[in-house]
Amino acid sequence: MYSLLVLLSTTLVLTHSQNCGYNSCPQWDPNALNVHLVPHSHDDLGWLKTVDKYYFQDVQNVIGSVIGALKQNPDRKFIQVETAFFKKWWDHQNDLVKRDVIKLVNNGQLEISNGGWSMNDEATVNYQSTIDQYTLGLRYLEDTLGPCARPKSAWAIDTFGHSREQASIVAQLGFDSTFFMRLDYRDREKRLKEKTADLLWQGSQNLNNSNIFTSVFYRGTYSYPDGFCFDIVCNDEPIIDDANSPDYNYEEKVDDFADFVRGQADKYPTNNIFVAMGDDVRYQAAWTNFLNIDRLIKGFELFPRNYTNKPIKLLYSSPACYTKAVNDYVTANNYKLEVKTDDFLPYATDGYGYWSGFYVSRPATKRFERIGNNFLQIAKQIAAVSNQPYENKITPLKEAMGVIQHHDAITGTEKQDVLKDYHRMLYSAIEEANELVDPLLSTIISGTDDHFQFKTCLMSNISSCSPSRSNKFTVAVYNPLSRVVSSPIEIPVSAKAWSIVDPDGNEVANQVESTIIDFSYVNNVPTSPYTCYFIAKDLPPLGYKIFTFTKVESRRSELTFGNSNTSFEIDEDSGLIKSITMNGVTMDVSQDLYYYKSGSYSGAYIFVPLVNEKFRVAEGKVKTTPISGSVYQGVVQEFAPWAKQIVKVYHGDDSHIEIEWIVGPIDLVSENVGKEVVSVFTTSLKTEGNFYTDSNGREMLKRTRNYRPTFDYTNEEPIAGNYHPITSRIVLKDEEKALELAVLNDRAQGGTSLKDGQVEIMIQRNCPHNDFGRVGDSINDQEYGQGVITRGRHYIVLGPTSGNGVKSLAAIQRDVAQRKLLPPWAFVTNQEVSQRLKNTQFSSLKVPLSENVQILTLEPWNNSTILLRLEHILERNEDENLSQEVTVDLSDLFTTFTITKLVEMTLGGNIPLEESVRLKWPGLENVQSKKLDGFKVTLAPMQIRTFVATVVY
Ligand SMILES: *[C@@H]1O[C@H](CO)[C@@H](O)[C@H](O)[C@H]1NC(C)=O
Ligand SMILES: *[C@@H]1O[C@H](CO)[C@@H](O)[C@H](O)[C@H]1NC(C)=O
Ligand SMILES: *[C@@H]1O[C@H](CO)[C@@H](O)[C@H](O)[C@H]1NC(C)=O
Ligand SMILES: *[C@@H]1O[C@H](CO)[C@@H](O)[C@H](O)[C@H]1NC(C)=O
Ligand SMILES: *[C@@H]1O[C@H](CO)[C@@H](O)[C@H](O)[C@H]1NC(C)=O
Ligand SMILES: [Zn+2]
Repeated sequence: MYSLLVLLSTTLVLTHSQNCGYNSCPQWDPNALNVHLVPHSHDDLGWLKTVDKYYFQDVQNVIGSVIGALKQNPDRKFIQVETAFFKKWWDHQNDLVKRDVIKLVNNGQLEISNGGWSMNDEATVNYQSTIDQYTLGLRYLEDTLGPCARPKSAWAIDTFGHSREQASIVAQLGFDSTFFMRLDYRDREKRLKEKTADLLWQGSQNLNNSNIFTSVFYRGTYSYPDGFCFDIVCNDEPIIDDANSPDYNYEEKVDDFADFVRGQADKYPTNNIFVAMGDDVRYQAAWTNFLNIDRLIKGFELFPRNYTNKPIKLLYSSPACYTKAVNDYVTANNYKLEVKTDDFLPYATDGYGYWSGFYVSRPATKRFERIGNNFLQIAKQIAAVSNQPYENKITPLKEAMGVIQHHDAITGTEKQDVLKDYHRMLYSAIEEANELVDPLLSTIISGTDDHFQFKTCLMSNISSCSPSRSNKFTVAVYNPLSRVVSSPIEIPVSAKAWSIVDPDGNEVANQVESTIIDFSYVNNVPTSPYTCYFIAKDLPPLGYKIFTFTKVESRRSELTFGNSNTSFEIDEDSGLIKSITMNGVTMDVSQDLYYYKSGSYSGAYIFVPLVNEKFRVAEGKVKTTPISGSVYQGVVQEFAPWAKQIVKVYHGDDSHIEIEWIVGPIDLVSENVGKEVVSVFTTSLKTEGNFYTDSNGREMLKRTRNYRPTFDYTNEEPIAGNYHPITSRIVLKDEEKALELAVLNDRAQGGTSLKDGQVEIMIQRNCPHNDFGRVGDSINDQEYGQGVITRGRHYIVLGPTSGNGVKSLAAIQRDVAQRKLLPPWAFVTNQEVSQRLKNTQFSSLKVPLSENVQILTLEPWNNSTILLRLEHILERNEDENLSQEVTVDLSDLFTTFTITKLVEMTLGGNIPLEESVRLKWPGLENVQSKKLDGFKVTLAPMQIRTFVATVVY
């Protein structure tokens, strides 16, 4: 028995079969209408149930029974999508089953589609996390199943609208196509009418390799055609082919299906159509699905049916095979598909169903996700420079971040207990990653294998951090960016006066203030009454500086009023911001908090105000209290007992003004309506209905009020219909005055410009109802025994668009956005470390990179290899100097290792770029990117290049 097992496990050899991929596609017939039937199961990584409940109650049955059913008929195909679930399942299988699965992958019957850890949301995610979650999934598939498991198509069937950056990313992964169903109802109607639901989508306005074939589903569902759900949980009639049976219905079923495909065939450009055969957690008893589909296919042979003058032919197919068939067709006929250059957001299902609420729902999750990304990047960097293996204590954090990207996780569209489960998962994954990071960091600092027991202080947002409650503690401030940065740091502290000493032994100016609100409502964790602010100056790239804190008896109260170039004025009568001065421009800008009242339509997904009117949070004058210290000056504004802000300008950082807001608990009882709170900035900029929002933190998109670029917009919901996702910033431009104002954020939100010169960003939503029972929970979350309190920040940037010979405002925004996405992390310890500080500052880079380029990824890959991604962070034409191509010399860049070999990969890191061949489409040029010049890597604007680097430590 023992030897048999050994024998079996050695047969799990992963080969590059010739029979998978496009070679495994069914023959389509140029003289027929080819109906591509695509069996699939949509398995949410949490929504109504937690991830584990879905897995153990449903998904394990799906994958298991599909494998059995595929073996029974070599024509059958199925697509496996969510890699997080696949891994859970694979871990439970024996070698016999595993061998079967590899066979089915190698012969193309089991096709991996999408292959990400999850099916990520597209409105609220940041591109860095999207790339990471694909990298994780694709790497797992490659290691487990081999090259035949490389997906060729993206599969985003349930995502609530589609971003342009996502199209760009999946194109750069080497995929040939993407499939989905959710787009504006008017857009769908128009596309079906004009036969443009199969199209080419240009994902980037900067890159040449970002076009992707896109197929939009015929109907607003990814479910089986009506009457053809053959799963045991469906009530549709099965196909009964026994001619002696009184229930015989074979020809009738064939006729019904023929009617359906004729309707669809009228609307698509080629003689191939795509029919999804599946639904949520279907195929738990796969046999019944496949037996019926087998019969259906055979039925069209037994009882031929025509579409116009062509026979209808049914095929077991897949997204990749459909793409190939369309590609063959358009190539043979030199048919040019429509090319789209904007995005598929926002998504509306009808006049009331604007899915612009989820851009903001559960803002705490949306912030926590960004914190998770911040820590993950730092953890991977420290592991890579410390020569750690790929599989280690960071893996759970990579996986948790993959799960959080799921379209019911970061979106906030899940049940409240599922939300709590996501937070628990992410929290414990960060803590576990820190079990690796703490000793590695301690080793770099001490030069020995001492552990300093650095804590992550994840609860700093409620002023809780256990080591900084001591009278003496040490903070290692780590900078994950590839350039030198200075950054304000905030530490919860228990006393009013502190001495901080930097690595050079200098006293660091600091400022201690009472916490933004009294956090004593928080039970079971101790909170500190004060926050200590200081500027961590000139932090080295991918490196740290150590700061020691000692409580002192008293401190001379310094009332510094810096001579900063950046300032704001408060109106004495209203207590609101009145004007802002920055980059040599003074402009009247006011800002106020309002809320919409929402009725029964608003819920986790949908935003529908009860009346198209907003109400001020403050009644009359906003109470203001000035603050001035050696780190920042500002003013505390109290709008209501449940809504406060601090407007701040940091000394020595002219780049932005910060508005920190805190709202909650929101009272829903007294009026029984939802409150959706917005921050509104009003300027006199002449914007002519236009504003700009980012796509997943990368390229900007122009938005126009009451308008969509590709279809006629009917303005049924003048507010909700104008909301767009903001993952990093929203910008107003006055072309005539050449002035620009941007508001950047710290998490995904939604926003708009409802009036010229005005920007509105939603920051919190509490809805006692839920949109048509979709998720069955309202969004009225409780924390610490009361309605949730949420805290966040906006960053305002203002100035001349062009920069007048200095850095452009767009370039300043890129800089601020990056510093806020990946801020330095304060690792805090109250261990006695003073005698053990060998390296009080450290950098992984010998020289900082120039400011338009960033090391997007640095992580352990294989033995003696690392995954390295470089990105150009500007778009073409954003800045005279910084938008130029940039070259990075990697030959002698890192301090702890030397790169000896570079292999350029596709964006996911799973395929050497030379092996990646994408389909060509009539009318689209295929431009090759620049070849490597030794270790010199050149990047064009917005380009990301991915390498597996062999390194010697
Ligand atoms: C289907 O079309 C073919 C070719 O045009 C024709 O020969 C055949 O008679 C048609 N069959 C039916 C049932 O209409
Ligand atoms: C203000 O801006 C000028 C010009 O950019 C710069 O030289 C100066 O250092 C800035 N002052 C402060 C206090 O940052
Ligand atoms: C602090 O962060 C936690 C974890 O994301 C979140 O649950 C909580 O609501 C946040 N509190 C505030 C005040 O933002
Ligand atoms: C990496 O190194 C470990 C320990 O030396 C070894 O067990 C493993 O097989 C190696 N993996 C690869 C992919 O070479
Ligand atoms: C794209 O093509 C243009 C024009 O051919 C070229 O200037 C640019 O560098 C290319 N960009 C990339 C990222 O290859
Ligand atoms: Zn879903």
